[in-house]
Amino acid sequence: MVKTCPNGQELKFILNNQIKELDVPADKTILQAVRELGLTGTKEGCASGDCGACTVLVGEPSDKGVRYQTVNACIAPIGQQAGRHIVTVEGLESPDGELHPAQEEMVNCHGSQCGFCTPGFVMSLAALVEADVSADREEVLQGISGNLCRCTGYRPIVEAGIAALEVGSSAAIQGQELVQSLSASTAQAVLQPANESELQESIRDFPNADLIAGGTDLMLEVTQRYEAKPNLIDVTRVEELQLVSADEEKLVIGAAVSYSRLEEFFAGRSSPFVSLLHRLGSRQIRNSGTLGGNLANGSPIADTPPILIAWDAEIETVNTKGEARLTAVSDFYRGYRDTTLSGDEYIARIHIPHASIESFHRFFKSSKRLEDDISSVMGAFRFEGTPDKVTVARIAFGGMAATPVRLKAIEDLLTDSELSRDLVAQAVEALGDKMTPLTDVRASAAYRSEMAASMLERALLEFMGEARPVITEVSLDA
Ligand SMILES: Cc1cc2nc3c(=O)[nH]c(=O)nc-3n(C[C@H](O)[C@H](O)[C@H](O)COP(=O)(O)OP(=O)(O)OC[C@H]3O[C@@H](n4cnc5c(N)ncnc54)[C@H](O)[C@@H]3O)c2cc1C
Ligand code: FES
Ligand code: FES
Repeated sequence: MVKTCPNGQELKFILNNQIKELDVPADKTILQAVRELGLTGTKEGCASGDCGACTVLVGEPSDKGVRYQTVNACIAPIGQQAGRHIVTVEGLESPDGELHPAQEEMVNCHGSQCGFCTPGFVMSLAALVEADVSADREEVLQGISGNLCRCTGYRPIVEAGIAALEVGSSAAIQGQELVQSLSASTAQAVLQPANESELQESIRDFPNADLIAGGTDLMLEVTQRYEAKPNLIDVTRVEELQLVSADEEKLVIGAAVSYSRLEEFFAGRSSPFVSLLHRLGSRQIRNSGTLGGNLANGSPIADTPPILIAWDAEIETVNTKGEARLTAVSDFYRGYRDTTLSGDEYIARIHIPHASIESFHRFFKSSKRLEDDISSVMGAFRFEGTPDKVTVARIAFGGMAATPVRLKAIEDLLTDSELSRDLVAQAVEALGDKMTPLTDVRASAAYRSEMAASMLERALLEFMGEARPVITEVSLDA
């Protein structure tokens, strides 16, 4: 008989200034839990991570004290939060009733009209203040990229953010002092193995359980399709899966490293990748979402598989016996949402050759909105050689077929030939025959084909030095 994960067992965490112990099912969200506890300041707008009305802070100990990050409470299981500090809008004011600078400046700058979105904006701004980022418009825009407002307009909210950052945080958030005492807690509602051998044991013991990392894909099955996920194994507490390391040849990234950490790590290493990460989801999504989840989810419109294909990256999967294998990302996808990952395996690490990161690469994402939107087409390109001869070409697309695709035939056409405008035109022409895009709500097949052709042309012209780099980030000042 297949065992189920222990359910409904005690979960201990800090909610605002109190330690809470709850019996919860694995797939209960933070949003449901806090609202049932009477904290109704946190709102439900979309229940899919898209609007930010449910934004809360989640604090964890770090080497710089407690580090707070924004999370979409509507898609984050409360069972994953053992030992952490959850701060809702009710918990922001100081014990003597003084508003947090994020709240105070939203009042001063008239940042609220109907008020439905306001608690979410306040929490996103409070996270910036607590992280002590510079009082910079771009920082504020990134910080609120996952929050939607229908009525106020963003200008007063951005002004409130800048003003709050200028004021800065004067007092610790209430309840922060409790974090150290609980930090070693693990939950039973969601299994939280601490290392790879415990993870292997958990998968062996509960083969019907779902692995969960950030939950930003998985939990939509609960909130949008009303599926139950009674058995969850959390990979984010597995120490080895949170490591980023390097040997002489490769960078090795743990599958459970969040996008926000990747942004920090790749700053100064790959500006095309960092710019792309700024377009992946929102700050809230990037605080939770992981490379491992993006790859395992198997979506043909995921942003990172084409990038990792262009970088010649490999996926290290490990089975419950601890046996590891490496698969090129380009060989990982078998069909629509179908990967080579078997039931007793997990993604442990992603290996990226340093040489790939150091060579010329460009990543272009086309989506309807600049922020917090899934790609209609995602193009990733890497070339080695000189402006008149490509010696290595890697071309990969998302959104153009049932899986992320590598276009070997176009790579071969370009490799070791004299690079000219004519050859670029031939490559662009040949591209059309190699892909089978769909028409759906995001884009028509014809639009996708045009966009993919423009992306390839642009990348080649930039490599040849015949085009200025494309602007990948647009300031809302414009
Ligand atoms: C509002 C919103 C915006 C988004 N925007 C983007 C976007 O711009 N671009 C984009 O590409 N995606 C986007 N996504 C999708 C999602 O955020 C990403 O795919 C993310 O990388 C998923 O990672 P996760 O850690 O949250 O995965 P989870 O949801 O935890 O897991 C996803 C799947 O992977 C499996 N899994 C997780 N970790 C492992 C592992 N280590 N080994 C084996 N299996 C594992 C899970 O069992 C599950 O099947 C968005 C999602 C939302 C809700
Ligand atoms: S309710 Fe919209 S992001 Fe959570
Ligand atoms: S104030 Fe009404 S949605 Fe923002």
